[in-house]
Amino acid sequence: MATAKSDITMEKIVSLCKRRGFIFPSSDIYGGLSSAWDYGPLGVELKSRIQKFWWREMTQLHDEIVGIDASILMHPRVWEASGHVSSFSDVMVEDTVTNERYRWDHLTDEQRETKTSPNGNPLSEPRKFNLMFKTNLGPVADDGSIVYLRPETAQGIYVNFKNVVQTSRVRIPFGIAQVGKAFRNEIVTKNFIFRTCEFEQMEMQYFVHPSEDTRWFEYWKAERLAYYEKLGIRPSRLRFEEHGPDELAHYAKAAFDIQFEFPFGWQELEGIHNRTDFDLSRHTEFSGKDLTYLDDQTNERYLPYIIETSAGLTRSVLMALCDAYEEEEVGENDVRTVLRFHPAIAPITVGVFPLVKKDGLAEKAKEIERALREDFSTFYDQGGAIGRRYRRQDEIGTPFCVTVDYQTMEDGTVTLRYRDSMEQQRVAVAELDATIRDAIRTYKRTDAHRRIGA
Ligand code: GAP
Repeated sequence: MATAKSDITMEKIVSLCKRRGFIFPSSDIYGGLSSAWDYGPLGVELKSRIQKFWWREMTQLHDEIVGIDASILMHPRVWEASGHVSSFSDVMVEDTVTNERYRWDHLTDEQRETKTSPNGNPLSEPRKFNLMFKTNLGPVADDGSIVYLRPETAQGIYVNFKNVVQTSRVRIPFGIAQVGKAFRNEIVTKNFIFRTCEFEQMEMQYFVHPSEDTRWFEYWKAERLAYYEKLGIRPSRLRFEEHGPDELAHYAKAAFDIQFEFPFGWQELEGIHNRTDFDLSRHTEFSGKDLTYLDDQTNERYLPYIIETSAGLTRSVLMALCDAYEEEEVGENDVRTVLRFHPAIAPITVGVFPLVKKDGLAEKAKEIERALREDFSTFYDQGGAIGRRYRRQDEIGTPFCVTVDYQTMEDGTVTLRYRDSMEQQRVAVAELDATIRDAIRTYKRTDAHRRIGA
């Protein structure tokens, strides 16, 4: 019987990510760049699967949601209209001895009152700091050529609202989804990929009649929480946190965060905001274009309200890693590290091994792997003891392993081994695809029961 260990730290997760090729420091051979990270062969698979999972959930499973992919560089007036130029700032202070920087709102009341840093040193005067990265478009760096790297993907959706209404058959209520990079010159970046200056967001803006905003806000809160559970995240590690009146962003009438319990505490994964008609009215004012919507059935013309669901993709990668990571005592003096990813997001779905390389077993295993790769992401491995090969796959979260042995050559069956339970079952090669598919379809992870298949 395996027992889960509870002392999971960020150091262990960061170390596994580097060791197994999930995530590397950016520009590693030059000593890294503070708070920037590169996704390696397994990391890029994990990230793209989470993105696909979200995209399928938000577009394919919703008739009324369409996607777009807007440019990162946008007209600078966009950011004046959105309020980012005037108010997208944090207040920063510096430890006058160590020069370490802190966000004012991250300090305790006592530290703020006494203007003392967490190291006990005097702090500098608080000053405002705009989080947008500025650059220049074209060869001349003057005020007229300033553009910003977008700090959120949302504005790309608002400025395309009219284009989408005029070119698609959408009727309110409907949504526009987008995934893409965003940039913020964060004062403090820490906790690995949790808060970085370059990150990815998965945002969906849902346009509703103003009288229906509360209903849709509640609807999206429930949908988004259910999404994380569907993704295999343990419900006990998820919760809502409401923004109090003094915490609300300038555009929001109501806001809830979905938080996840990271090893460093409960932190935001996603924001669900009732943005009212703030964005469309500001873009109407600044662009001079009419962004009202005409309901062709009631003939009512109005500015829709927007319910926003705004999730971090790179932050979701960290969530998936933290929720999946486990060290388990297996028998005496044996600990296995396992990533219990939902099979839909595991970088590799099926590992295929010959028990030994000789007697035609390797050829047979390769043949099976080639057939499975049409439907799953697979990995062939013939090196080392079979137990070690299983453990290597456990450590990167591969939910299924298939072993070809001498019996395979006689009766056409293989061993199918399940990552979570470590149970093994004999399956006919002809049934393998369907058996794995079924186990993925019925996968459910709960706090109490986290076995798949078998
Ligand atoms: N359009 C609304 C918006 O951008 P936000 O709460 O500022 O709202 C939404 O950001 C999500 O984007 C966050 O919940 C988080 O997952 C992700 N995010 C924000 N800043 C980030 C950063 N510096 N690094 C990584 N992810 C970040």
